Amino acid sequence: MSVKLLHFLTVSVYLNYIGGEVFFYQPEQIHIAYGDDIYEIVITWSTFNDTQNSVVEYGIGGLILREEGTSKTFVDGGVAKHTQYIHRVTLRNLTPDSEYVYHCGSDLGWSNLFNFKTAPNRSDWQPHLAIYGDMGNENAQSLVRLQEETQRGLYDAILHVGDFAYDLDTNNAEIGDAFMRQIESIAAYLPYMTCPGNHEEAYNFSNYRERFSMPRGSQSYMYSINIGPLHIISISTEVYYFLNYGIKPLVFQYQWLEDDLIKANLPENREKQPWIIVMGHRPMYCSNNDDDDCTNHETQTRVGMPFFKFFGLEDLLYNYGVDLEIWAHEHSYERLWPIYNYTVYNGSYEAPYVNPKAPVQFTTGSAGCREGRDEFSYKPPWSAFRSNDYGYTRLKAYNSTHLHLEQVSDDKAGEVVDSFWLVKDRHGPYPMSKMNWAKVDKIRLKYMGL
Ligand SMILES: *[C@@H]1O[C@H](CO)[C@@H](O)[C@H](O)[C@H]1NC(C)=O
Ligand SMILES: *[C@@H]1O[C@H](CO)[C@@H](O)[C@H](O)[C@H]1NC(C)=O
Ligand SMILES: *[C@@H]1O[C@H](CO)[C@@H](O)[C@H](O)[C@H]1NC(C)=O
Ligand SMILES: *[C@@H]1O[C@H](CO)[C@@H](O)[C@H](O)[C@H]1NC(C)=O
Ligand SMILES: *[C@@H]1O[C@H](CO)[C@@H](O)[C@H](O)[C@H]1NC(C)=O
Ligand SMILES: *[C@@H]1O[C@H](CO)[C@@H](O)[C@H](O)[C@H]1NC(C)=O
Ligand SMILES: [Fe+2]
Repeated sequence: MSVKLLHFLTVSVYLNYIGGEVFFYQPEQIHIAYGDDIYEIVITWSTFNDTQNSVVEYGIGGLILREEGTSKTFVDGGVAKHTQYIHRVTLRNLTPDSEYVYHCGSDLGWSNLFNFKTAPNRSDWQPHLAIYGDMGNENAQSLVRLQEETQRGLYDAILHVGDFAYDLDTNNAEIGDAFMRQIESIAAYLPYMTCPGNHEEAYNFSNYRERFSMPRGSQSYMYSINIGPLHIISISTEVYYFLNYGIKPLVFQYQWLEDDLIKANLPENREKQPWIIVMGHRPMYCSNNDDDDCTNHETQTRVGMPFFKFFGLEDLLYNYGVDLEIWAHEHSYERLWPIYNYTVYNGSYEAPYVNPKAPVQFTTGSAGCREGRDEFSYKPPWSAFRSNDYGYTRLKAYNSTHLHLEQVSDDKAGEVVDSFWLVKDRHGPYPMSKMNWAKVDKIRLKYMGL
């Protein structure tokens, strides 16, 4: 090889090497989420050096449009002070029912091309979601099947119900980076909607809050989003357990949640989104044989803080007619009969999920992580079905009266091991619901702009 050619190759290889320093401008860990509504998409990614600007080029059928966003320096709390730049760009006013292509980065380096599809703007749209919690970097059993199904276009969005990577901050947050690269194969194509779990606790949940971009801003633990006929509310159950970070997040969330439930119940809203679904990491009930709080009668999220019994979620969700509650944390799947205060309120004995007289709850925390599976103890009368196969849940909203749920077993090669229809002719408070009428009236007036 000639000296000249060798010199040319050397220069090419070190193009990123200016003044003896290596630069990392290449975007990675690309993921998307809904913004304030489903026609807003927030694209988030990381670089390890400051690229000065954060750009998404995108469009229907080509990279026609350009949108700039912001970048924030994120320093992990570990000893290495692992530093990255987290970039966020919001695409607004997207055209319904369209296939968009995009890439992200800056003039210093672009990502691969990705694509996502926007929902049709029709009241008969039937959103299909994949739902799971507790998926790690190691032993992410469900990921292969989820990649395959995502790329075949089966889903409209993902709900990851807390506990990521095990953990996002492990090894000075390098496990977090590895996990975010790993889920890019689904999260760059589908809105990846999350809530925090106990594994995100380190440094006051900073890895969770900085890496994901959820509605209401990245510093928030809770949000709600309308997806077709679904009003999905995502909360942090961790505010009940990590009081070392203060009681403010718990009080603030409870008040926000009551406001959001009241708004969702205003007739004009519940008409459009009849299904109110709440997701949070730790369940109120479980029949696993570990020492988790859900095995206790007085679960803190259920009845409120120890001794004081303030801010319990079970009454709140029951009183405002929540239809479905989705939890994780237990590394298993458990479906309950409609339940309130340890009493089963079936719609009827023959058809328990047709017009149930209390919310329906299930736990789906078996996506796969390095902690393996959780075993069960005796089966209580409120527990309808249990499995600790690795897997995840599918939810399809057919219309205002019918939701279909199914549990996919990864152990059994994708077999559906449980399924049920939740059927409601009318949505709203339950027979013994007690609303806070003073607050309802206040919010109704505020909402009407009075
Ligand atoms: C670029 O990133 C590398 C790796 O994180 C770091 O060592 C280096 O100091 C950074 N350079 C600048 C100019 O920020
Ligand atoms: C969806 O349709 C409604 C009613 O036809 C319209 O008001 C709204 O602007 C549409 N939204 C989008 C994003 O096109
Ligand atoms: C932890 O973060 C929350 C939410 O941002 C904040 O309200 C709280 O004050 C923080 N706690 C501590 C101890 O920094
Ligand atoms: C729940 O049941 C217990 C008895 O197990 C009872 O003491 C309590 O008052 C009930 N709570 C509500 C809100 O009905
Ligand atoms: C609820 O329905 C299921 C299914 O029919 C039944 O096994 C269970 O005993 C019922 N519970 C009550 C309290 O009626
Ligand atoms: C809703 O969908 C279910 C399942 O496809 C169907 O049986 C039912 O008739 C539909 N109801 C309405 C009101 O369209
Ligand atoms: Fe957990």
